[in-house]
Amino acid sequence: MAQINDNYLKLKAGYLFPEIGRRVRAFAAANPDAKVIRLGIGDVTQPLTPTVLKAFHDAVDDLAKADTFMGYGPEQGYDFLIDAIIEKSYKPLGVELKTTEMFISDGSKCDCANILDIFALDNTVAIGDPVYPVYNDTNVMIGRTGEADEKGYYKGLVYMPCNEENGFFPAYPKEKVDVIYLCFPNNPTGAVATKEQLKGWVDYALANNSIILFDAAYEAFITDPAIPHSIYEVEGAKKCAIEFRSFSKTAGFTGVRCGLVIVPEELEGTTSTGEKYSVNKLWLRRQTTKFNGASYPVQKAAAAVYTDEGWKETKAVIDYYMENARIIREGLSAAGLTVYGGVNAPYIWLKTPAGMTSWDFFDKLLTECNVVGTPGSGFGPSGEGFFRLSAFGNRDNVIEAVERIKKNLK
Ligand code: MLT
Repeated sequence: MAQINDNYLKLKAGYLFPEIGRRVRAFAAANPDAKVIRLGIGDVTQPLTPTVLKAFHDAVDDLAKADTFMGYGPEQGYDFLIDAIIEKSYKPLGVELKTTEMFISDGSKCDCANILDIFALDNTVAIGDPVYPVYNDTNVMIGRTGEADEKGYYKGLVYMPCNEENGFFPAYPKEKVDVIYLCFPNNPTGAVATKEQLKGWVDYALANNSIILFDAAYEAFITDPAIPHSIYEVEGAKKCAIEFRSFSKTAGFTGVRCGLVIVPEELEGTTSTGEKYSVNKLWLRRQTTKFNGASYPVQKAAAAVYTDEGWKETKAVIDYYMENARIIREGLSAAGLTVYGGVNAPYIWLKTPAGMTSWDFFDKLLTECNVVGTPGSGFGPSGEGFFRLSAFGNRDNVIEAVERIKKNLK
């Protein structure tokens, strides 16, 4: 009988969001009259913008005619999209990139997971705590860890607590680590990193020959002009960092699927025998073997985000979500809750009242307010006693959810 990859058996329960979905479905089935408002998973609610939609439709029409039909595209993505992103999204930051340094994909979740293919299992890997669960679980799946302890920490991973004391910004690990995941603006805490703080990590990585995996999926939600959108705004970062970006939240592509990875040509790792090797070459090799590119209409739709009209519309939707974030943040603060995030990020990270556990607060909000959020402990042990609300709901629901919570907590 074929043997399975039993690293998967080390994982606790189900993946966080399906588990929440399961509980919410059970509640809704038992309470069919309850009007449940979902601010749990960060899933967008606003439709694609007109300019993006038109580009999407036009590209589908291209596929209907022999002379404009497209078959396999380049595995790394079409130049029309790569060039648009470099020109419109990186150049204004003062970041110069070559087209060969960008890899378009079908989303950032897959990229964050797939990147592990090109790193040796005996690397020491550091992740935040709390953290986007994909970083943790994919390291378990690939076999980098032992079992989890009673708190939920897996043996073999280095956890960097992000808590109120350190302003939700990780301290450098005591031991030397080879690969470090950083996510700013942060999911789940909504914390952001200043340029000085990112420089600290770049200096750490350069000094320790480590590689930073920088998840910038939420960069479009930064409102403070002093906050960096890309780790490459820090000098030296091209020698030590891979960056991930996503169209999911930026342009409403959670269902459409498009993301990108930057692997600078200057970035090197070492082989098992100690020679330097280009990480860009390795990723290209991986992608050309295991991936056939995001679809042509999706990439056309993504490119339309960077047209003048497309960006104006996209920015208006981002502003809409950030207004939701303000309503949640201010409403819940007024209700006496301690609230973080939601200023340069679409997530609000709140402290559960009266020392409740995250899951108890989840149950209370679900059953008493019919509002769904995400228990902080689902993102890691240091998330215990916290709770995440997403700003991606529609406005009426957001206002109603805040009112229900305020009334309940009175
Ligand atoms: C979240 O709610 O944390 C995100 O939507 C998950 C994701 O982007 O995969």
